[in-house]
Amino acid sequence: MSYPNSDSASAKLYQRALNSLPGGNTRTTVFMKPYPLYASKGEGCHVWDVDGDIRIDCVNNFTSNIHGYANPEINRVVQEQLARGTAFGMPTVAEIELAELICSRVCSIERVRFTNSGTEAVMMAIKAARAFTKRPKIAKVEGSYHGSYDYAEVSLDSSPGNWGEMTAPTSVPYAEGTPEAVLADVITIPFNDPERSLQILSQHASELAGILVDPLPNRAGLIPASQAFIQGLADFCEKNGSLLIFDEVISFRLGYHGAQAIWNVQPHLTALGKIIGGGFPIGAVGGKEEVMAVFDPRCGKPALPHGGTFSANPISMCAGIAALKQLTPAVYEHLAEMGEALRLAINHAFAARHLPGRAVGMGSLIKVHFSESDVTDYRSGYQSPEVARRLSIFVKGLLNRGVVAASYGLLVLSTPMTLSEIDSIASAVERALDDVVLSLNSQSGT
Ligand SMILES: Cc1ncc(COP(=O)(O)O)c(C=O)c1O
Repeated sequence: MSYPNSDSASAKLYQRALNSLPGGNTRTTVFMKPYPLYASKGEGCHVWDVDGDIRIDCVNNFTSNIHGYANPEINRVVQEQLARGTAFGMPTVAEIELAELICSRVCSIERVRFTNSGTEAVMMAIKAARAFTKRPKIAKVEGSYHGSYDYAEVSLDSSPGNWGEMTAPTSVPYAEGTPEAVLADVITIPFNDPERSLQILSQHASELAGILVDPLPNRAGLIPASQAFIQGLADFCEKNGSLLIFDEVISFRLGYHGAQAIWNVQPHLTALGKIIGGGFPIGAVGGKEEVMAVFDPRCGKPALPHGGTFSANPISMCAGIAALKQLTPAVYEHLAEMGEALRLAINHAFAARHLPGRAVGMGSLIKVHFSESDVTDYRSGYQSPEVARRLSIFVKGLLNRGVVAASYGLLVLSTPMTLSEIDSIASAVERALDDVVLSLNSQSGT
């Protein structure tokens, strides 16, 4: 197991990919220099690359594979459905069953609408908020990732050169060519700063359709939102007729009743995705019946028409049902225990090496930071080139010790893991941190 290796099958596949995919890549999130490892199969919590190397997978397809790979029950229902048909121009019973499961678990969700991705779920939630309130603007948290809809991408990667004052963060485009009109309709607020956020929001109160918030924003540092922040946003919405939109595309991983039960709040709309598809493409927007009525076609064209060739396809639906049924409260507890054990082990490993850094996160989601000071929001987590260099050595070090982590330091657990795998991951973390220490020593000539 030695990455990088220009003679490897992965390196050769990447050379081939360069001839048909831009930069050899069709999904920016899996891009890696000098080349990505190509997967050949997965089983339980392990993934094989095309060179035959086996690793513990702590990416889990960016959190979607909560049951790892080849889960027997998911495979069984999908194989049965494959034999019956994969997509119809007719509804199926599976969409009702998955909707019922979600409604029964999440208090604020009375009606659900399925999409094909989390991006679409967030997009439809924003459009639903606009259709319901007849207002144009949305607010979102600086640095928070919500998928690829223009409006949801604003200020995803703003930098010290363009992010403006903390009291009034500038709305910065993510993709080149983003229309000015999009920026004008997205209000950017600072994470976990209820006072400043409410000041900013109040300037747009009569135009705000909704506030989009992820209570555990991964790209913004994986720091939990404070209760005061979430409650402040909820109260603002209540008072001003805006809708609170929770993005639980990732954070639905945190508990049986969703992240919103942990923060004890009932958003008007919730975007879901990832785990509710059991490893297949999915997204969903759910909410109170009154709000979700914008999709209701019974009286002719609804306020918000919504289709989608593969929306609610029965493969994703039945895989999602099988995945959720296996996610009992006890299973969530087990995931959280493993997550806590790994965070502790990582923090111990940093301390033992007198290396600045720490593990943060909640439940089965762990993020490793190499910054000198505490990360409290997007700005404090913004990486200097040196911090980025350490992280890159760390992630590469993990790969070479049999663990795959996301390039930005995220480690995601899955239900097939046991405390024995957590021990193996912790050992790999120690060795990867040793690599970082070694590079620092060689930099300083010690
Ligand atoms: C919080 C959050 N929202 C939305 C999305 C978009 O979901 P998808 O990749 O399924 O489009 C993601 C994807 O990682 C996400 O993390």
